[in-house]
Amino acid sequence: MSVTHTQVGIVGSGPAGLLLAQLLDKAGVSSIILERKDRAYVEGRIRAGVLEQGTVDLLNEAGVGERCAREGMVHKGCYISIEDERFEINFEELTGGKHVVVYGQTEVTKDLINARLASGGDLRFDCDNVAIHDIETDKPRLTYQKDGAAHEVQCDFIAGCDGFHGIARQTIPADLLKIYERVYPFGWLGILAEAPPVADELIYARHTRGFALYSMRSTKVVRHYIQCLPDTDPDDWSDDRIWDELRLRLPQADQDKLVTGRVFEKSVTPMRSFVCEKMRHGRLFLAGDAAHIVPPTGAKGLNLAASDIYYLRNAIVSYYKTKSQDGLDTYSDKALARIWKAQRFSWWMTSMLHNFSTSDDFDARVRGAELAYILSSRAGQTSLAENYVGLPF
Ligand code: APR
Ligand code: PHB
Repeated sequence: MSVTHTQVGIVGSGPAGLLLAQLLDKAGVSSIILERKDRAYVEGRIRAGVLEQGTVDLLNEAGVGERCAREGMVHKGCYISIEDERFEINFEELTGGKHVVVYGQTEVTKDLINARLASGGDLRFDCDNVAIHDIETDKPRLTYQKDGAAHEVQCDFIAGCDGFHGIARQTIPADLLKIYERVYPFGWLGILAEAPPVADELIYARHTRGFALYSMRSTKVVRHYIQCLPDTDPDDWSDDRIWDELRLRLPQADQDKLVTGRVFEKSVTPMRSFVCEKMRHGRLFLAGDAAHIVPPTGAKGLNLAASDIYYLRNAIVSYYKTKSQDGLDTYSDKALARIWKAQRFSWWMTSMLHNFSTSDDFDARVRGAELAYILSSRAGQTSLAENYVGLPF
């Protein structure tokens, strides 16, 4: 068995694990990332694409913000439509100049992997049977197999950045965790297609046929979503059927602006809110999707992973500088305070904008009134904008 030592062992090379590794590297703290899948798989996963300024700042700090600065699209607001009416939410005006950047998570992941490999950082793909040991001691370990050989990584700390289906959360005794969960009675059928965007900003469309989102990746590639049943088979949706449905959910005045094109990715995302408390046990720290999931309405998933990593990096770096445990002890509470606010926002956006087949008429009316109120009130719009651009870390 080969044995290596590092300061921080990281499980998972999604945005959370990769960002942590790069930020620790800048602070002179060593880390090793163990990833179950291969590089092509990790770089090929399609996810949301809206970055808060705080996330962009962290990418810059990690030294990986250059392409995002060049190719990312600054969005100063968004549109919300209800049937045939379209309203503008101007983030900059409502928040004193704040905006978001539209840049695919897939690209963030590629930039982080490139930076990690370019700096000679330790990133191991195709690790089988990763297991976490001895987290209640001060010498935790990771073991795994690769190409039939057994390996061990001895660490000071372990970061569980292995997503919702990972093993890190399961390593903590179940009776020490409290799980909060809500599963929504719908999903999103998402496409990537070669077509120009419908408008200059994203359109969140509430419609009697169901919610739709008109997003983009560039001036030539769009990312659109249609509310669907959670067990929808994407193959039941031909390209024509998808484009027809997308057109019908737009306000009539915008329907001609929907330009169709070759669909090159098509998948269904289930919708879930999930929080695991606490996010630390002994020397194991959970971050990102390993600890929480939000429904994608409002695109908070990656941004929450980034704020977790901000708190975790600060805690670990401060430990090595001062030997103080304070940051480590408060990590979970600090991260969860922000997570719950983003959970509230994602749940609220989801409730206002979707059709709930399971709800009664009263609930449906109240949700409609909530959105109508927001769109008619500067205070309401300010609240939406403030959350959308991202609450402070
Ligand atoms: N061993 C090693 N790696 C694992 C294991 C395991 N047992 N289980 C999962 N992984 C890897 C996955 O293959 C994946 O590459 O952990 C990584 C987790 O990455 P993500 O799922 O992208 O999670 P995270 O880094 O927290 O990113 C959060 O991704 O899902 C979106 O909306 C979410 O945008 C948010 C962001
Ligand atoms: C996306 O572009 O993928 C996207 C944008 C906004 C969201 C969710 C997803 O709220």
